[in-house]
Amino acid sequence: METKRENFGSKIGVIAAAAGSAIGLGNIWRFPYVAGENGGAAFLLVYLVFVVGIGVPVMLSEFVIGRRAQSNPVGAFKRLAPKSLWPFAGFVGITAAFTILAFYTTVAGWTLEYLYLTLAGGFDKADKAGLTSQFSSFISSGPRPMFWQMIFMVMTAYIVLKGVKNGIEKYNKILMPLLFGILILLVIRSLTLPNSFEGVHFLFAPDFSKINAEVLLQALGQSFFSLSIGMGTLITYGSYINKKDNLSSTAFSVSVADTLVAVLAGMAIFPAVFAFGITPEAGPSLVFITLPMIFSQMAGGQFFEIIFFVLLAIAALTSTISVLEVVVAYLSEELKLSRAKSTLIAAGSISVLGILCTLSQGPLPKLSIGGMNLFDILEATSATILLPLGGLFIVIFVGWVMKKETVFAEITNEGSLKGRLKMLYLIIIRFIAPVAIALVFLNGVGIFGYGG
Ligand code: PHE
Repeated sequence: METKRENFGSKIGVIAAAAGSAIGLGNIWRFPYVAGENGGAAFLLVYLVFVVGIGVPVMLSEFVIGRRAQSNPVGAFKRLAPKSLWPFAGFVGITAAFTILAFYTTVAGWTLEYLYLTLAGGFDKADKAGLTSQFSSFISSGPRPMFWQMIFMVMTAYIVLKGVKNGIEKYNKILMPLLFGILILLVIRSLTLPNSFEGVHFLFAPDFSKINAEVLLQALGQSFFSLSIGMGTLITYGSYINKKDNLSSTAFSVSVADTLVAVLAGMAIFPAVFAFGITPEAGPSLVFITLPMIFSQMAGGQFFEIIFFVLLAIAALTSTISVLEVVVAYLSEELKLSRAKSTLIAAGSISVLGILCTLSQGPLPKLSIGGMNLFDILEATSATILLPLGGLFIVIFVGWVMKKETVFAEITNEGSLKGRLKMLYLIIIRFIAPVAIALVFLNGVGIFGYGG
């Protein structure tokens, strides 16, 4: 049907969109609790090594594939490696898009409920027991979390429907600066609490004895999840990047912004957690139970609580649009459906899985295996299995299947940029990244017998 592809309008738009994808619940909801459960500063250190050594090169590789092929992930592999099994790697991405968006919209829905509760004047009982029971009865109640999840899905679909430039780029350019502003305010509030230093210490003073195979896998999974890599989101966004933009500097800026926000989120959350004498390993409920408790005891708490949940909702929205776009681009380009139809089908079918995810928290107890419900399973497997697997395919593809000359031509914009680090990049994606991903992955999932 349509043949002309849309592009992002400006370099700043590209960065806002890609950073919008990367910065999300992964930074503000997931990073603090995964770091809290895995040793704090020790985790942060390993995480930073993975972001620089593996994350940035994988991100650049996705941009290379996307912009070269001018296509969605499945189409991209088809174009660059015709008559091969590589499009399968694109389908791994589409699968990951379904699983991630399903549980992600569940959590995004919770943020809307909490925003609503805060605006409506707060919580019934703001002590730990009261907030815990309020949170667990809410998430397991069925219709209410489903309602918020669907509102979130509709907002996501609305923006995606508007297209790349007038939807995705436009909203990211407004929402991302707002997000930064809110986050800085929260960090200042948290650091000016009495005894906040303990939280800073927890986040920045590493205890190396805490590092084990599980911590490595969690850090790898978190770096992939947080950077939005390993499933073709950035292949898709890469395909909309103008031929004149510098892919390497874009990948670098986006990764820096994403890491900065994770660290800032840690600096907003841990000092407050410690200032109020709470343990940092609270798990997924950290921001929904621990933080409301802290806010209720803090001067100006309600105001900061409102802006915190606005922050979470914005961060989530700029990420969900990037995940939905992957499926929409696939449907519209490969199955030649209109953008409207593609958006409807993608959002509709993902909603079915998303609703099952929400219902698995309570009303449908059958949707569990070995103590993990569908939500837990999708959350855990997408970050630590699907994304590293996808990332492995991507680096092997760019490193070994695509011609070196083609890859360099894409990185240097056909020779007009120097691309000084291109040999280093090649060595990383050919040797270091695949071996590191495979080792951490096999080790962490226990194949060598001493993981976990
Ligand atoms: N990076 C997003 C976050 O940190 C999540 C995401 C993962 C988005 C994979 C797109 C693809 O919240």
